[in-house]
Amino acid sequence: MRTPGKMELAAAAWAMAVFLLSTSQARAFFHSGPDLEQGRAIYTANCASCHGANLEGQPNWRTGNEDGTYPAPPHDENGHTWHHGDTMLFDYIKRGGQAALDDMGVDFPSGMPGFGGRLTDEEINVVLDYIKSTWPEDIRAQQEERSTLEAGEP
Ligand code: HEC
Repeated sequence: MRTPGKMELAAAAWAMAVFLLSTSQARAFFHSGPDLEQGRAIYTANCASCHGANLEGQPNWRTGNEDGTYPAPPHDENGHTWHHGDTMLFDYIKRGGQAALDDMGVDFPSGMPGFGGRLTDEEINVVLDYIKSTWPEDIRAQQEERSTLEAGEP
């Protein structure tokens, strides 16, 4: 049996690398970008009924309901979702508005349910990534800055 040449070894190594990259675990490792398709699916199934199919929010979302709650605000750049840092947004989705507002000492009835029992932490982050992906560049940059400030980093 002859010894394989350098080129053949390189080709074998390349084939191996391509094979490894095609396994889903490897893809998850190398794929650092958010999965926006999954995010959109989670959004459509869980959030669109209130926040709108196109993140437009409910009509007259700035006007309170009779019971003191507010309609669901938009998540696009016309709303105030991007005014908040990641920690607050995650918490609001996971525990729901009431728990988050109570902790902040805000005496206000929330209409935002908690999704901690229905979505994993990973899914909450994926749906947030999807929401952010719809924002223009400057809005994304401003929200990122708030997240950094919120996290107490310089
Ligand atoms: C039953 C209606 C309803 C559903 C379903 C719902 N929300 Fe909300 N959401 C609200 C309302 C109403 C508010 C306004 C604040 C409040 O009442 O606490 C809100 C506020 C928020 C906020 C606060 C930040 C802000 O200022 O915009 C975030 C983030 C949020 N929702 C994300 C989500 C996500 C993500 C989903 C799906 C996983 C979802 N919501 C599903 C009603 C809903």
